[in-house]
Amino acid sequence: MSRADLVGDGVENPANARALLDVAAMFGVPCRFRDTRDLAGRWHGEPLAGTDLGELRARPIVAVENTPGAESVFTARLPAGRPSIVVGNERRGIRPDLLAAAGSSVQIPTSGRGINTLNVAAAAAVAMYYLLGATGRRSPRSSRAEARRPAVLLAGPGDHVEAGSALRTAAAFGWQTVGLDDREKVWFGTPRPVRTEGRAAARSHRNPLRVVPDGSVDGHRRVIVAGTRVAGPPVHRVDLTGALLVIPDEETGGYAGGATGFARVELPGGGCRYRLVASIVLAEAARQLGIRPPARPGRGPFAHESTLALTPPDADLVTPSELRAY
Ligand SMILES: C[S@@+](CC[C@H](N)C(=O)[O-])C[C@H]1O[C@@H](n2cnc3c(N)ncnc32)[C@H](O)[C@@H]1O
Repeated sequence: MSRADLVGDGVENPANARALLDVAAMFGVPCRFRDTRDLAGRWHGEPLAGTDLGELRARPIVAVENTPGAESVFTARLPAGRPSIVVGNERRGIRPDLLAAAGSSVQIPTSGRGINTLNVAAAAAVAMYYLLGATGRRSPRSSRAEARRPAVLLAGPGDHVEAGSALRTAAAFGWQTVGLDDREKVWFGTPRPVRTEGRAAARSHRNPLRVVPDGSVDGHRRVIVAGTRVAGPPVHRVDLTGALLVIPDEETGGYAGGATGFARVELPGGGCRYRLVASIVLAEAARQLGIRPPARPGRGPFAHESTLALTPPDADLVTPSELRAY
């Protein structure tokens, strides 16, 4: 029997519902939806398992929401009795009736200057990773956190929305610059609709993240490659601080560059959807740092001059409600 269920409360965007099914599969747990916003009307695929407040009340409820007073997901413990781990609507979060019914609330601590929420599926993946496992974690650093913040290289993401969601996570955890090896050509110089969708997923209108085209590991003594298919210790036991942290999209072929170490994201059910794996790795690096607010805006360790800043999405290509649905 699984240790928990994943529940999406009022999730609107079918793509996010699909990503939540992937999160559940990664952790080998069932996924159900309390459909308060006509997800079913937009859904094409296998029938989604539904639930309601009455059914949810029968077992412990853990609300994943960054509400005041919520415990950090890095230290919270999963209650006994096969709890429902609930995530909420893309814009409004978990509905008040379900929040009130929850015996505990956990938040993913963030330090972003512009954005403090992750994509709903990315948040579910991070919450499940810490609530269901990640035992024997390294202790977080308590001093000079910013100086120890790893440089991050997203390597070969194969999809612009997955890349955008991973960038949104990085911004929420306080990264100001992220390298992106765009060999699959999903980010730089893409057609306008693709560009707009990717930037919407990154929430680029609300965060000041710099995305730097860079595939090089020059100048880094420690290069740690993190993923689900690398051979190495669990990521939460590897010192990620002060390194170049490479997060390859394992669906597009991994990372062929040099590495001095590996860190494995252990997922009992398998799978490697990029935004989910990248968000877990970034959360772990942030946890090890102690997540302090960034000291000051900076350029980060990447040297390329040909940087492309994220720009606001084009209003005539995507509506605000579409943007918010990511
Ligand atoms: C995009 S967020 C909802 C928007 C949010 N209520 C707001 O303030 O804008 C969608 C869902 O992802 C989860 N989530 C995202 N970031 C989170 C965080 N930092 N801590 C806990 N849950 C988070 C929550 O379940 C939330 O309901």
